[in-house]
Amino acid sequence: MGGKILEKIIHDGYDEFETQHRTKSGDVRDVQVVAQGVNLSGRRVFQTVFREALQKNEAHLRLQMERMPIACIVWNRDFCVESWNPAAQKIFGFTATEVLGKHAFNLIVPRKVQPLVDDIWERLLAADDTAHSINENLTKDGRTILCDWLNTPLKGADGSVIRVLSMVQDITEKRSLEEQLRQAQKMEAIGQLAGGIAHDFNNVLTGILGYSQMIVDQVGRDSEVGRDLIQIHELGKRAAGLTQQLLTFSRKQPLQTAVLNLNTLIDDALKILARLVGAQIEFKFIPGHRLSRVEVDPRQIEQVLMNLAINARDAMPDGGRLTIETANVIFKKEHPAISGQIKAGRWVMLAVRDTGHGMDEATQARIFEPFFTSKKEEKGTGLGLSMVYGIVKKHGGYIRVDSKVNQGTTFTIYLSAVEEQDA
Ligand SMILES: Nc1ncnc2c1ncn2[C@@H]1O[C@H](COP(=O)(O)OP(=O)(O)OP(=O)(O)O)[C@@H](O)[C@H]1O
Ligand SMILES: [Mg+2]
Repeated sequence: MGGKILEKIIHDGYDEFETQHRTKSGDVRDVQVVAQGVNLSGRRVFQTVFREALQKNEAHLRLQMERMPIACIVWNRDFCVESWNPAAQKIFGFTATEVLGKHAFNLIVPRKVQPLVDDIWERLLAADDTAHSINENLTKDGRTILCDWLNTPLKGADGSVIRVLSMVQDITEKRSLEEQLRQAQKMEAIGQLAGGIAHDFNNVLTGILGYSQMIVDQVGRDSEVGRDLIQIHELGKRAAGLTQQLLTFSRKQPLQTAVLNLNTLIDDALKILARLVGAQIEFKFIPGHRLSRVEVDPRQIEQVLMNLAINARDAMPDGGRLTIETANVIFKKEHPAISGQIKAGRWVMLAVRDTGHGMDEATQARIFEPFFTSKKEEKGTGLGLSMVYGIVKKHGGYIRVDSKVNQGTTFTIYLSAVEEQDA
């Protein structure tokens, strides 16, 4: 208590004011004081009346925070933890005892977002209550998560900020689900568009091919006109091949399925695949043990394998290793993939792995789009992977890609395992 106030109480015998108290543990507390000078057997004593009530309030507030399903953290002016509820523990892993008095930067703020958080903190201390943010945070076990921070500066009696209350939500999963949904919707839209165009275009091509064939038959293959017409016919066939791929992507082609063992299918395709990738690439097949059977269109799965193998080859111009692997996989809970959330259950995994140049994240985000290619004109049309995507989706399967620049790429496909009668 300041000397001036004491003087006033001594003089008037009474004063009412709000102030702050530092407790033994170093906490600064707001207190409302009604002070009265009392004459107690000749000695002057001062009584502070409302202090008790305020502490009770605070205890009540703490209890409410404990029970809050939302993570609540109270920071002191030095950005150290003053209060940390169980919901905060659930997000970050630290118990309240582990964090009390510790600075945010030593706990949950990764180095790379510290400048941003510093900025927000300055604004909060200046009582800016719009200083919210979405940023990455660290958990006790070292995971990086994405959090949504709603911050409120808490002011003391004199109007200055003495604490900050933060309410936090872990939005990591929500974000990735949103991203997946966006991706799936985009592919769906592109599929519809491409499928529609391809369908009409195919009809036009059928006419062009038919008429050019008719004229070739009339003028003969050996005349000059005949040779030119054959060129037109060949180019027309190439165009038809492209639209065929687009139709596969948009899943307009019917499936002709059979229940089979993927290992057998791959075994049969190994020769062709080996020829496709060439001798400078080491090629290995690791068949899964007692592989569950799947219901697939074998011709379409062969197309998937060939496309993935050719891409792998193109990613390893100086040689490398290409591995095809199959395995039974059981997912206990949902699992993310490019093409949605893989449902829990029994799956057959087909992985195609290369040690090629890999791709950055921006490329990975677009590879399944039709006509997306990083290859030079004439070399790639950018339809290979969109077709792969279409085939996998049509089989009710999932595909994911994992890639690191200069390290390699793995495409993993999951196809639903057929439940056998007697295992
Ligand atoms: N294994 C891989 N390693 C590195 N990049 C790859 C790999 N597979 C695909 N890509 C990238 O994805 C792009 C799209 O592949 P996609 O198969 O759809 O088309 P493309 O191979 O370029 O042409 P197309 O297959 O029609 O001949 C490629 O251009 C390449 O940038
Ligand atoms: Mg390709």
